[in-house]
Amino acid sequence: MSEVYPIPAETAKNALIDEKTYKEWYDRSVKDPEGFWGEHGKRVDWIKPFTKVKDVSYNDDVHIKWFYDGTLNVAANCLDRHLAKRGDQTAIIWEGDDPSESAHITYRDLHERVCRLSNAMTEKGIKPGDRVTIYLPMIPEAAVAMLACARVGAIHSIVFGGFSPDALAGRIQDCDSSMVITADEGLRGGRKVPLKANVDKALETCWSVKNVIVVKRTGGAIHMVAGRDAWYEELVAKASPTHAPVEMDAEAPLFLLYTSGSTGKPKGVVHTTGGYLVYASMTHQYVFDYHDGDIYWCTADVGWVTGHSYIVYGPLANGATTLMFEGIPNYPTVSRFWDVVDKHKVNIFYTAPTAIRSLMREGEEPVAKTSRKTLRLLGSVGEPINPEAWNWYHRVVGEGRCPIVDTWWQTETGGILISPLPGATALKPGSATLPFFGVVPLMVDAEGKELLGATEGNLCIADAWPGQMRTLWGDHERFKQSYFTTYPGRYFTGDGARRDEDGYYWITGRVDDVINVSGHRMGTAEVESALVAHPKVAEAAVVGYPHEIKGQGIYAYVTLIQGEEPSEELRKELVNWVRKEIGPIASPDLIQWSPGLPKTRSGKIMRRILRKIAENDYGALGDTSTLADPGVVDDLVENRMNRV
Ligand code: WT7
Repeated sequence: MSEVYPIPAETAKNALIDEKTYKEWYDRSVKDPEGFWGEHGKRVDWIKPFTKVKDVSYNDDVHIKWFYDGTLNVAANCLDRHLAKRGDQTAIIWEGDDPSESAHITYRDLHERVCRLSNAMTEKGIKPGDRVTIYLPMIPEAAVAMLACARVGAIHSIVFGGFSPDALAGRIQDCDSSMVITADEGLRGGRKVPLKANVDKALETCWSVKNVIVVKRTGGAIHMVAGRDAWYEELVAKASPTHAPVEMDAEAPLFLLYTSGSTGKPKGVVHTTGGYLVYASMTHQYVFDYHDGDIYWCTADVGWVTGHSYIVYGPLANGATTLMFEGIPNYPTVSRFWDVVDKHKVNIFYTAPTAIRSLMREGEEPVAKTSRKTLRLLGSVGEPINPEAWNWYHRVVGEGRCPIVDTWWQTETGGILISPLPGATALKPGSATLPFFGVVPLMVDAEGKELLGATEGNLCIADAWPGQMRTLWGDHERFKQSYFTTYPGRYFTGDGARRDEDGYYWITGRVDDVINVSGHRMGTAEVESALVAHPKVAEAAVVGYPHEIKGQGIYAYVTLIQGEEPSEELRKELVNWVRKEIGPIASPDLIQWSPGLPKTRSGKIMRRILRKIAENDYGALGDTSTLADPGVVDDLVENRMNRV
């Protein structure tokens, strides 16, 4: 039996959704999705109200449409509609990397900035449907750029500032972006990130990009290409401060976001306008129990979906005050998160288990010396949170007073699918608990047979919700293949889960060849192809293994070409190579030199075995009789044991 934390009386008293309401709404959302979503779809402002709610098929011709005869503009929903009531309210609190730098931006000010950039982008030829790649640090201009794209109907594709020039180039080429918005340099933990130089490098192989807009962040020396590059500050200074938002179809793409799959190159996940905004804003309001006036802080980067839905779109659609943090949890000290909470009187704090685990290692004192009295609710996202980290977060950070919402979702889902609602759900450390309104999780075995009651299996979702991805950019076939063919007629999440006797879900992690490193998703295939691109590498196989801080670490088995000898120097060279090819988040944690890899007679690498060896779990290697050369396994096991 796991521990249960009942809903605190204080939380229950003020919460937007209590237990009874959750049950009633959930039942209705499942029995009458059209009625339920037809009502909640009205939470956003429509230019032309929808009359059609849902058109979905998970079979054959897979298609997903919501509110599909309505029109709206996302930026108008995040800005214009708030001006009358909250023009002078802070929309974004920006906290710089350096603790002496911060800013408050009101809704009125944000609106003006977005209008100016919208006009400047239009001047540069950007039209509805064009793709704009955003490669920015965590500065207010990132939110301004997203909203300006939404305002003019352009589709943004944000690339995390930690990605390499090659990774950036791949993401620009895949969607033929015609514009890149970047900064001279980023600043994280006191260190500079050469964003503009990376863009220059990437653009050597990208012919679609006509314009680059550069925000001055550090003032560092950079190269500007005449006719292509322009300073953001100069463009917006001369642009008009008013702009009429473009009327967009509910199903017009709002953004693309590249994420790792189990095979091949990253997938361009497509989210659209109406359903996404309804779902992002509704989950933000109810999961975080957001009340007017609350100060809300999500520590993610806008380069990930969490930043899209829960720093920018969800909160701003709700007229919230959202905090945007440029820095990292341990700079200048490991008290930084809590110093920022006190400085800006944060009420709701949302972060990742990996951050909790790394701060936990520093002991309680750096937390205890801060006040945190404004905190009311804590959130977790990105990977399973182990009960030890959950308890520390609850006891030390929240002083036992703040419920924790462990929110399970994915880039593909657009918003949170399984999570407690603070006033409605008793908590169990390590469990994401129960589905959000309209979400029907389903457990299946390897053959796709539905498993009922308390069970363990593969997690699918039975039917669509408005925030769901619609397709993969330029590859609807891969979309169908990746999500709807493993278990026909169901959306397969790629995650394994356990469901307990109370119907609570416990996500156990990916069951495909995707690994989760510090809450960042990495395809093993991507790291492998980076490794084999090195001239000394003949073959590579990459798997995840349990890592104390990162959740999972990257374990690479590498076979060198004939005549090359393993060395510490070569190991370092390969790690740096992968950093350069993809980015620091893809750095292998361990490399094992492997003269051979376990393969079936048809040449397929048996990763199941490699995972077990990486986990130091030799008792359960399973059937190795189908291997072409079973002796390879003994060699690998011996080397694994000798490794440390
Ligand atoms: C994968 C999705 C959701 C935004 C950040 C990651 C894992 C995410 C949880 C959680 C257990 C979680 C899953 C999922 N995951 N949240 N609360 N508990 N696992 O988005 O990069 O698309 O990764 O992250 O494995 O499939 P993403």
